[in-house]
Amino acid sequence: MAAISTIYFSTLKKSDKIVLSAESYGTTLQLGEKLRDFGVEVKTSWPETENIIESIDKNTRLVLIETMTNPTLRVFDVPEISKVCKENNTILAVDNTFATPYLYKPSRDGVEIIIHSLTKYLAGHNDVVGGAVISRREKILQIWDWRRMLGTILPPFEAFLIMRGLKTFELRMEKHCKNAQIIAEYLEDHPKIKEVLYPGLPNNKYHNLARKLFKKGFGGVVSFRIRGGEEEVRKLMNSLKIIKPAPSLGGAESILTYPIISAALTMPRDVREKLGITEDLLRLSVGLEDIEDLIEDIDNALSNI
Ligand SMILES: Cc1ncc(COP(=O)(O)O)c(C=O)c1O
Repeated sequence: MAAISTIYFSTLKKSDKIVLSAESYGTTLQLGEKLRDFGVEVKTSWPETENIIESIDKNTRLVLIETMTNPTLRVFDVPEISKVCKENNTILAVDNTFATPYLYKPSRDGVEIIIHSLTKYLAGHNDVVGGAVISRREKILQIWDWRRMLGTILPPFEAFLIMRGLKTFELRMEKHCKNAQIIAEYLEDHPKIKEVLYPGLPNNKYHNLARKLFKKGFGGVVSFRIRGGEEEVRKLMNSLKIIKPAPSLGGAESILTYPIISAALTMPRDVREKLGITEDLLRLSVGLEDIEDLIEDIDNALSNI
């Protein structure tokens, strides 16, 4: 959020327009809504490529999207959105936290600002909080002043932990993606699972686009709907032995999150339900554990509901 708030403050002024995707990290949206108090026009757009593009006009100063949405894992056609932003002299900022530079490098498609929650895959050990903004040198120099004024500066010990985590980033991502693909395929065949949302599955709506954008896999997060509701979700979460029921993602340990009480908690109920963030939806951040142990853990927990 340090990275995101610094981008909001350093790029927008009164009467500018910002376009946000309606399915973004809840706090990104919450802070985005507050920009209205500073005279910024805030347009929250339906999270599909064509809707984001339709929302962009000559007054749009900034568009902020996530490469893959959280938690339903829609994938944006970033190159297409980037093209339209260029035509309108609009800054495109992409939060690449879920895809990571292992899967996708938005700068290659002309994206001006790339944001990462380092808290997740880049640091990778669930033990540090931090953010990063990546851009061309001249843009960074503008942002730099705002970083000093806002105090959104990474402390040295956190920077050390992140640098240490980065040394194994590629190895970890390879395993996250491999484990996630196996779990997505396993869940797809399970009778207690209603739907699996993972762009690595050939029948997923975003599979072809994901194949075009992502070269080495489809990420470490798998979302799924169980047959049942809140009671079954709680039973499932309480039955897990290896996977931890908690918020966050991208670390060595597998984490199962219940989006309606975490990332989407601040969203109005009707909006989140329209987006598909319903009470039967779970988000699994697949960790680096042995895949057989993970499947056994999920299998046992599902047999309890
Ligand atoms: C896509 C995305 N961006 C930003 C954030 C905020 O990250 P942090 O917790 O490091 O402030 C999150 C947190 O879950 C996220 O999922």
